[in-house]
Amino acid sequence: MQAASFDNYAQQYDEHFTFSPVGWLQRKAVYDYLLPLLNKEVSVLEINCGTGYDAFEIVKYVKEVLATDASSKMIEQCEIKNKAAKNISFKVKPIQQLQEEIKNTNFIFSNFGGLNCLSPQDLAAFSKKCNTILNKEADLFFVIMGRKCIWERLYFKIKGDPKKAIRRQSKEGIDTVINGSEFTTWYYSPKEIQDFFTSGYKTQHISGVGLFVPPSYLNPFFANKKILLKLFNGLDKVFCKFKWTANYADHYIIHLTKIN
Ligand SMILES: C[S@@+](CC[C@H](N)C(=O)[O-])C[C@H]1O[C@@H](n2cnc3c(N)ncnc32)[C@H](O)[C@@H]1O
Repeated sequence: MQAASFDNYAQQYDEHFTFSPVGWLQRKAVYDYLLPLLNKEVSVLEINCGTGYDAFEIVKYVKEVLATDASSKMIEQCEIKNKAAKNISFKVKPIQQLQEEIKNTNFIFSNFGGLNCLSPQDLAAFSKKCNTILNKEADLFFVIMGRKCIWERLYFKIKGDPKKAIRRQSKEGIDTVINGSEFTTWYYSPKEIQDFFTSGYKTQHISGVGLFVPPSYLNPFFANKKILLKLFNGLDKVFCKFKWTANYADHYIIHLTKIN
């Protein structure tokens, strides 16, 4: 069901999110931390790669990228862009079925909420697989939607929808609609992610992405408020250096290294 929903969104995804004002600023904020970690020794496994924007960026800095996604239509968009890029390949494969790919990488990357598409059971199974077959010293770099996004709480309260304002607190999956298709979203705090990856990992970094810069569903409101967005982006550059922002931002970065 999840993959089919994203199939219906694949053609519009870049316009609606990747190249939208909010999506673009949040992605650049991720790169501020991600790109300095990359070098030509790194073989990236990107899970939930979407339309492949990151894969084509990252491959400039690393040895190779294998980018995977559960949605065949998302991978189709990647292949359309993949004219002659070297050391990059794409595969339709859900996170739940990755095995050899995990064995053969030293850097697993998940951007913008792909892991929020996994239930706690599936996330536990994925972390267990990483515990057993992932190479020592491999990095995990995840960008996830947290539970206490301040923007979301304020926005839906002001809109008179107090239930939606606290939807991220739910332990159950939340029904979400994109482009008319329904899928389920689970929200996870940084502490919950650390608890999934307890044995043998060192937490290298945790920080917010989109504390002042709002969630992307506010793109229409900010479309003609570029100066305000620029100001918010400047504030994020100052404040999102701090770990506490991870709890209150739209997304957060968590970077772990396997040490055992
Ligand atoms: C919000 S998009 C993020 C896409 C991309 N990483 C980005 O930065 O724009 C979430 C992606 O997760 C993919 N996805 C959802 N469930 C998945 C699963 N179980 N395994 C792999 N990919 C999944 C969707 O197809 C979609 O491409």
